[in-house]
Amino acid sequence: MILGIVKDVTDPINIKIQAKEPLPLGKYVTIERDDDKCLGLVETSLSSSSAISNITNFQEALESVEVSKDSTRDKGFETTIRIIGTVESLKNGRPTLPSTPTIPGTKISDIEHDILRIIFSPDSSEWSRIGNLLRTDEIDAKINIDEIVSRHLAILSMTGMGKSNFVTVLAREIGKRNGTAIIFDYHNDYGQLELFNEENEKINVNHVDAKITPRILSGDQFAQIIDIPKSAIHQADILIEIFEQIREETNFWERLEAELILVRDGIGAVAPAAAPGPAAAAEQRDRQRRAGRLLTRVQRARRLYSNVIDPLIENPRDSLRQNSINILNATNFNEKQADIGLSYYLETAFNDRKNSALGNRDVIFQDPLFFVIEEAHTFIKVGSETETKFIAGKIAKEARKFGMGLCIVSQRPSKVDEDVLSQMGSFAVLKMIQKRDQDSIFNTSEEITEKMAGHLSSLNVGEAFLTGRFVKIPTLVKIDEETKSKGFGSDISATNAWSKSVKMTKKESSQELIDKEDL
Ligand SMILES: Nc1ncnc2c1ncn2[C@@H]1O[C@H](COP(=O)(O)OP(=O)(O)OP(=O)(O)O)[C@@H](O)[C@H]1O
Ligand SMILES: [Mg+2]
Repeated sequence: MILGIVKDVTDPINIKIQAKEPLPLGKYVTIERDDDKCLGLVETSLSSSSAISNITNFQEALESVEVSKDSTRDKGFETTIRIIGTVESLKNGRPTLPSTPTIPGTKISDIEHDILRIIFSPDSSEWSRIGNLLRTDEIDAKINIDEIVSRHLAILSMTGMGKSNFVTVLAREIGKRNGTAIIFDYHNDYGQLELFNEENEKINVNHVDAKITPRILSGDQFAQIIDIPKSAIHQADILIEIFEQIREETNFWERLEAELILVRDGIGAVAPAAAPGPAAAAEQRDRQRRAGRLLTRVQRARRLYSNVIDPLIENPRDSLRQNSINILNATNFNEKQADIGLSYYLETAFNDRKNSALGNRDVIFQDPLFFVIEEAHTFIKVGSETETKFIAGKIAKEARKFGMGLCIVSQRPSKVDEDVLSQMGSFAVLKMIQKRDQDSIFNTSEEITEKMAGHLSSLNVGEAFLTGRFVKIPTLVKIDEETKSKGFGSDISATNAWSKSVKMTKKESSQELIDKEDL
């Protein structure tokens, strides 16, 4: 079916057409060039009416509507289309653009579904269905799993638009292939996650509480995660001195307190030999006072953090499993602890992959793995040197050779470090309204044109624009709703919750009345 005629050609890849009817954004069309048929993507779609323009009063508007209704020539639908490549080249998976501009008068028509299937739903095993084409829902939209594991992925959108749902779809596809993923779950979004394959068999999901043990920390790191302020240098010195001696102990917290009490009382083994004289005596008194204050801080940290800083654990990474979807629950961590914990898990997983590549069999992750970092703007932040940013930057650059894919998930892409973002080989962008966030993606991925970035605000929940190495060409998709019926990530209805609690209170009070009568 003819959809329109080319009327204006600005350059070899951008054309303007007069359409028969309004065309939806993101629709794929054929450009019927004589030399080579091309595939095009609708990028903007406008409608106009000469009868209903330049109107200055309501009566005139009403009359113009009638004029416009009777005229077959009044309405116009102007559409811009970006040429993606010749149909033949796309079928072969190597998109090639035409070398000459399209001639005005060329017809635009619907594209055959068989061609769309070849391009968007390849049959080979590395391609996985994650949803369907947005404007042609009969066609499966597939992504190349190998590409995200070897060249990383960013999943970006404003809050509540379906990022975690997409991660879940990816986890399902990786799990179906007996693959390995680690999801660092800072907000307990995946606490209830269960996954099933097409035969309704359970996929291995390994729920683990993220932990830190003193053994894996430096003295500096320990001081940071128990909230010793940077200004308390002398307290930190005492802490580090003791820490280095007892970090391996299973009764770490008891030993730490006991050692501090000794220093506070002036009998600590780690106290420097006191030189005679009043200055040395004053120094000793200061040290004892500092140890006393430090003891209070340590006692508080032990009360608050002993569930996440656990000296009994040999090696926190030992609870991760190969050929599983590992959910690392980090809800109990504060931001600093999460940063240090996450960097530890990233680094040890990366070291495993490196050792495995060197032929070492004594590792957990013998095969490639996919590591998802939720809330990436918190841990890989522009302008702040976090531990995670350092190791994530390294992995983003080097892990390709070792089979470790990073997945950066964020609702504030403009706050994610550009160096790391620019290493991402693929992008899944869902609805995004903020101009600054749109610009940050537009600046990072050359396949997202300014026009496309502008349209990200008109996407609905679960609709995504996929670009980069994991698709053959930029693709607009509706992602499967994997989290349906699990209450996953859905907004809490305050009014529902309140009405339930009113009913509960009423029940209790009537029970109270019965109790009273019984008395
Ligand atoms: N593909 C989809 N189709 C239909 N509904 C979806 C889809 N993806 C997500 N939703 C719905 O949108 C809601 C939010 O999804 P999700 O938790 O994945 O968003 P998010 O982008 O991760 O949010 P946040 O930034 O707050 O973490 C969920 O209730 C989910 O059911
Ligand atoms: Mg989420």
